[in-house]
Amino acid sequence: ASSSDPYDVVVIGGGPGGYVAAIKAAQLGLKTACIEKRGSLGGTCLNVGCIPSKAMLNNSHIYHQTQHDLKRRGIDVSGVSLNLPTMLKAKEDAVTGLTKGIEYLFKANKVDYIKGSGSFVSPTRIGVQLLDGGETEVEAKNIIIATGSEVAPFPGGGIQIDEKQIVSSTGALDLQEVPKKMVVIGGGVIGLELGSVWSRLGAEVTVVEFLGAIGGVGIDEEVAKQFQKILSKQGIKFKLNTKVLSADKEGGKVLIKTEAAKGGKEETLDADVVLVSVGRRPYTEGLNIEAAGVELDNRGRVIIDDQFNTSAKHIKCIGDVTFGPMLAHKAEEEGIAAVEYVKHGHGHVNYAAIPSVVYTHPEVAWVGKTEQELKADGVKYVIGKFPFTANSRAKTNLDMEGFVKFITEKETDKILGVHIIGPNAGEMISEAVLAIEYGASSEDIARTTHAHPTLSEAFKEAAMAASSKPIHM
Ligand code: FAD
Ligand code: NAI
Repeated sequence: ASSSDPYDVVVIGGGPGGYVAAIKAAQLGLKTACIEKRGSLGGTCLNVGCIPSKAMLNNSHIYHQTQHDLKRRGIDVSGVSLNLPTMLKAKEDAVTGLTKGIEYLFKANKVDYIKGSGSFVSPTRIGVQLLDGGETEVEAKNIIIATGSEVAPFPGGGIQIDEKQIVSSTGALDLQEVPKKMVVIGGGVIGLELGSVWSRLGAEVTVVEFLGAIGGVGIDEEVAKQFQKILSKQGIKFKLNTKVLSADKEGGKVLIKTEAAKGGKEETLDADVVLVSVGRRPYTEGLNIEAAGVELDNRGRVIIDDQFNTSAKHIKCIGDVTFGPMLAHKAEEEGIAAVEYVKHGHGHVNYAAIPSVVYTHPEVAWVGKTEQELKADGVKYVIGKFPFTANSRAKTNLDMEGFVKFITEKETDKILGVHIIGPNAGEMISEAVLAIEYGASSEDIARTTHAHPTLSEAFKEAAMAASSKPIHM
């Protein structure tokens, strides 16, 4: 192909959905470009999401553990203090290293990286406002929209985010001082992860949640309860069934007005910093999507069919900007499948086997159905549970909070869901994902050798509990 030929694939957006789609397309021999306006690749996830939050979670955990957990392990340390600028720098270094890494992968795979903001001129042409000035236009046989999501503003406009005192996740990942008091609005994934970070670093954190449980969409109720107990023990305060009405800056503080979710009792909290984490919304601003004939639903999501096709021919869409959970690995899987549809006419994402992980300590992870969903569907199920207190490795590690819970179909023993709260849950859940992917029964897992002594033996014993009986309980 000559440089003036149209591209086979142009991807708009260089996040986990878009950059993976672009690399896959190039690997399949398609002439590919990726347009990204941020100035660095990796999207929300690498720049202001998954990666910086995990850097802060890991290092704040080590700090907290050094202060509160080393003594009983026979390690006496003194003079432990926080160097927040260095911790923030370590986070920045992780981000820069990984985003540059993707630039390298683009070069190695011959993906053209167009730095600028893309906007549809027609269903096959995209105009780009280049970051270093000027404009260009590209012609494409296939276009993949992967423009992601943005922070959802507080409904009703009652709270203005300034990213200093009233912050979204982006500001909360870059506070230059540990706030004395922090109020987190929304006890979903972001609120609990970033609330944990600042609580461990010394802030007095209160999470205000509208619903009666924490953890966000899809969490098992039993896990959510245990999760709240454990986080409370760590010092985080919770106000559930409570609705935030407004947050206003006053005399160096922020005053947060709340009322009982069912109406009635009002209360005013004060904080030095407020984190607004009430969800994210699809992002299509500036894309001039009308020029392409691409339709959105009433929540601003790009409407697609089960092959990622939008309402416009040869335009596909993946990731946070369309349906489904807003997760990096979900966007990546869709990126690969969408490109495979372009190249081969078929591709596949198993939406029944997409794991969720909350990277607190302990971690919380799950895949498949919750008990409450199965009850609502009238499905007969069996529960197999095993606590980490009975797992030799967890005991040895002095890290025993939580359990593994299997939910299987009563008649067939097929695994319908696995819910874990405990050390390393985020790594362990992959085994459950694989099991569901392969249609395994709990007996299949129970009869599979797991190395001793490992945390994953708790996984096996929960499977034994579901199919017969565990040994160590
Ligand atoms: P995005 O990552 O949002 O990327 C879209 C890109 O498109 C952006 O870089 C944007 O600049 C670009 N763009 C938009 N419009 C245009 C245009 N017109 N022209 C050019 N470029 C454009 N998920 C997990 O799975 N695990 C986690 O641990 C996790 N942690 C998170 C922590 C936080 C604090 C946040 C906010 C999110 C987290 N997520 C996590 C969610 C994850 O970041 C998203 O699900 C993921 O980034 C979605 O990928 P995407 O490619 O669809 O979109
Ligand atoms: P979320 O949807 O997980 O949680 C928002 C919470 O705010 C809900 O529990 C909701 O009930 C509550 N809420 C809404 N309005 C409220 C009000 N007025 N007062 C009190 N509470 C209110 O959204 P969150 O945490 O902002 O995360 C956004 C997305 O980012 C999620 O969809 C998640 O998938 C993704 N993400 C994933 C991570 C991971 O995989 N580890 C980490 C961080 C984010």
